[in-house]
Amino acid sequence: MTFFSRSIASLIVAGLSATAASAETLYLTAARMIDPGSERVIENPALLIEDGVVAARGTTANLTVPAGTATLDLGEMTIAPGLIDMHTHLTSSATKYRGWAGVGLPSERRLLWGVVHAGRTLRAGFTTVRNVGSEDYGILALRDAVNEGEIEGPRMFVAGPPVGIIGGHCSDNNLLPPEYEATGEGVATGPWEMRAKVRRNIKYGVDLIKTCSTGGVFSKGTSLGAAQSTVEELTAIVSEAHDRGLKVASHAHGAVGIKNAILAGVDTVEHASFLDDEAIRMAKRAGTYLSMDIYNTEYTLGEGERLGIREEALEKERAVGTIQRESFTRAVRAGVKVVFGSDAGIYPHGDNAKQLSRMVRFGMTPMQALQAATSLAAEALGKEGELGCLDAGCAADIIAVADDPLQDMTAFETVGFVMKGGAIYKTP
Ligand code: ARG
Repeated sequence: MTFFSRSIASLIVAGLSATAASAETLYLTAARMIDPGSERVIENPALLIEDGVVAARGTTANLTVPAGTATLDLGEMTIAPGLIDMHTHLTSSATKYRGWAGVGLPSERRLLWGVVHAGRTLRAGFTTVRNVGSEDYGILALRDAVNEGEIEGPRMFVAGPPVGIIGGHCSDNNLLPPEYEATGEGVATGPWEMRAKVRRNIKYGVDLIKTCSTGGVFSKGTSLGAAQSTVEELTAIVSEAHDRGLKVASHAHGAVGIKNAILAGVDTVEHASFLDDEAIRMAKRAGTYLSMDIYNTEYTLGEGERLGIREEALEKERAVGTIQRESFTRAVRAGVKVVFGSDAGIYPHGDNAKQLSRMVRFGMTPMQALQAATSLAAEALGKEGELGCLDAGCAADIIAVADDPLQDMTAFETVGFVMKGGAIYKTP
């Protein structure tokens, strides 16, 4: 039985009251709680939420309700930390203007999609996302509007325009003929130009730097196996970003580009599709996180033709999907730190959690998959002990599901309760 005390209504966010709602105190209980930090399942958990953070944690038997505190019992549900997706593109639509049709689409239109996608993502249980690349700086306005409670969405760490080479995956402007000289905001040549692009992104307020060290599936004329940027250029990007306190994510499918990125010292390698033994060893030694988007291949190969995705991209997807999943299995077995990154935007926002069951199918335990999307992702963000956890002091980013996810990870595909920073966005 789910029971709502009277004052709970004030915690439920309606439109613009997001920040106001988080100043309340709440005693939250449920049937069980999965704690990725201690790798334990706690029966009859109780959490005291105060000012948007977990103030105290225990069980209904040992944590008393302070006088006058609102209570919320989630009944038979299972609590987990809010999920973290390390690879999203909130201003991209999976279903509209794919392929050639996307040329000439104004960035304002994409930003409006971003507003819708941010809400969907949050209500799907993802309380934090890393947005690793957008055409321009509009994404920063989206992040700030969410933070100021004007729009519903997850906490966002945003990269802004990716930094990369002319004609590379990160410029992603290869569809137009030469007379347009179309080029991405972050396109540069040589270490100093790369540094300048990093500085410009930091000037405008990005949270991390995204670069590309190989070609990609969806960029015209790029090859998955071919390296992009020299190690010298990648090293310049990383040193500039790290000196300023920002982390770096590098898109890389082919083994050479993956290794170049690791050598340069990037924090996360995105996709990491063609991992050879040396790349796995290097990632392990350097402590590089791999963010491997092993669900979206099903969507692209199933829906791509209907959506108008160019044959070149479909061809590349056919070449990479299965191999990436095999790489995932080997990386997990080798003990590499693999985090949850989905590339939502390639497939519909809000379906992010579909990847969790695949992570189990391809070699993780359910607890490992949950850690990849909570505690380990938080560690990769440099937010360990703050996000992706349920201890006292952690942000009150909490979700709940009806079924037991440790038996079946698809339980996370229907999240019934979402709290972010102590404010409730979805109730059963
Ligand atoms: N953004 C990536 C690219 O264009 C998507 C790759 C998706 N495919 C995959 N098997 N992970 O390269």
